[in-house]
Amino acid sequence: MIDAGHLLLDLLLRRPQLLQQNYLELETMETDKKLLSSPELLPERDLSELIKTATKDSHTRAENTELMLSFQRGRVSLPQYKLLLCSLHEIYTALEQEMDKNSDHPSVAPIYFPSELARLEAIEKDLAYFYGPEWRQKIEIPEATKRYSHRLRQIGADNPELLVAHAYTRYLGDLSGGQVLGRIAQKSMGLKGSEGLSFFAFPGVSSPNLFKQLYRSRMNSIELTEEERGRVLEEAILAFELNIQVFDGLQAMLSHPQDMELKSIKKIDARQSSSIVPLLRMFVGFFVAFVTVTLGVYVF
Ligand code: HEM
Repeated sequence: MIDAGHLLLDLLLRRPQLLQQNYLELETMETDKKLLSSPELLPERDLSELIKTATKDSHTRAENTELMLSFQRGRVSLPQYKLLLCSLHEIYTALEQEMDKNSDHPSVAPIYFPSELARLEAIEKDLAYFYGPEWRQKIEIPEATKRYSHRLRQIGADNPELLVAHAYTRYLGDLSGGQVLGRIAQKSMGLKGSEGLSFFAFPGVSSPNLFKQLYRSRMNSIELTEEERGRVLEEAILAFELNIQVFDGLQAMLSHPQDMELKSIKKIDARQSSSIVPLLRMFVGFFVAFVTVTLGVYVF
């Protein structure tokens, strides 16, 4: 059940044009400020508060993975970013397909915001920018990413009420630290404009902070038993853990460049040998013809 406060937030946040025009005035309006911080929107035992507290340590661990530290130090490399995009593609394909399938489920419907949050199209655009139109044949993902997408498929099929934990971890993360990471990535890789960085842009969300408020209030409106709530919190910790494993998996792939070099050498060899084969055939053909003619001349 959505109350008047939620409806007003909904109206403000789901109309980007309206918000863009009036954003500054709206931000300074005391009534809205009161609305956003009113205790009935965020009582102490709300799911949004509990989940934030439960995943605090996991967040710190995620921030301190080698990959995330590279971002924070402004030293994210193109190979790192490209591999990350490949994994994000696998993760968001699973997450968004499972959210779509379960969009009418009572625990999913309140937090189902495909036009504001969906990332898949943006990721595909970025992959095409970095890998070219044949990107689907080129993407590489570590085992950890497959485990993550497998978990998403599993709960999408058996326990859709747990999807909120994963949607929270990814989307609220993307709307929080992710915004800064986008700017860092642009600088680190020397990219001009926003090409290759669509993943970080949310054109349907004018104010990430206000949107996060709406999202939290929607999370809090999901009706869960105590037991289900406990399982959502556990799933959120698992979601962070799966992300950490993905980041570590990517770093491991990058730390063994010999293997990657070997792969590319093999590709070059294969290309070279495929261009050598017709030449060899031609040479053998000439040789056989020459021997036949010479023998013919000799015999007659
Ligand atoms: C370089 C790494 C990261 C930095 C610098 C960073 C930074 C931040 C910041 C500043 C916030 C806002 C905190 C607040 O509003 O109180 C935030 C929130 C959040 N971050 Fe991160 N983050 C990073 C990585 C991650 C990762 C890897 C994930 C998950 C996979 C993640 C998930 C979240 C979530 C779910 C929130 C929302 C918390 C809430 O309001 O409930 N973050 N992050």
